[in-house]
Amino acid sequence: MLVLENLTKTYRMPAGEVRALDHVNLEIGQGEFVAVCGPSGSGKTTLLMMVAAMLRPSSGTVWFEDRAIYDMAGPVRARFRAKNIGFVFQMFHLVPYLNVLENVLLAAAVVHRPDGKVQARALLQRLGLEHRIGHRPSALSAGEKQRTAIARALLNRPKLILADEPTGNLDPDNTRCVLRHLQDFQKEGGTVIVATHGPAAREFATRTIQLRDGRLA
Ligand SMILES: Nc1ncnc2c1ncn2[C@@H]1O[C@H](COP(=O)(O)OP(=O)(O)OP(=O)(O)O)[C@@H](O)[C@H]1O
Ligand SMILES: [Mg+2]
Repeated sequence: MLVLENLTKTYRMPAGEVRALDHVNLEIGQGEFVAVCGPSGSGKTTLLMMVAAMLRPSSGTVWFEDRAIYDMAGPVRARFRAKNIGFVFQMFHLVPYLNVLENVLLAAAVVHRPDGKVQARALLQRLGLEHRIGHRPSALSAGEKQRTAIARALLNRPKLILADEPTGNLDPDNTRCVLRHLQDFQKEGGTVIVATHGPAAREFATRTIQLRDGRLA
């Protein structure tokens, strides 16, 4: 489903260049749950952002089902991303002045979905948030915020979910809960890639890969 070919990312800084990823080659099949592990600064976020069609590589190619995603024109790539890829962030990235339902429906604003509201409510019920639908993020626990973010990532029925330290701010119970929801998505045929320092995701992963200094170890 995904092929990363000689993927390299160099950030240019006043003090010199930082090579965040260095000729990474990787294939990921549909239905895998991959944990990307490695110390801080090893390139996990950079890798996820490039797979997410949000960060252009300095060189190399990201193939998504035989399409080179950075060959697409910007607006085409944006639609492709909204349709196929869900992203879950460590800090949730919910919009503070929208309630839970409205935050989830943001995903439907990009890909036109007349059934968005019905689907969003069904997802929120499945994630145990039906009693929180009208709450603003500030009135949610950390676990509830992350489950809202997962509902938003799932709304467009993506093929791939990318999650960057999705449990970094959660206690052990909420960590397992979030990982279990990602696993449910995987068991229904979805593909999951989780970047993490922690050991919890390895338990759920079908494969663990290690990054060190921008290279696959
Ligand atoms: N926008 C940027 N500009 C310059 N350098 C960057 C930028 N983003 C990341 N880097 C550098 O690239 C390297 C990889 O960073 P990245 O954020 O991918 O690591 P990470 O594995 O996600 O780390 P963490 O576990 O702390 O989140 C680091 O050396 C970092 O300082
Ligand atoms: Mg990171």
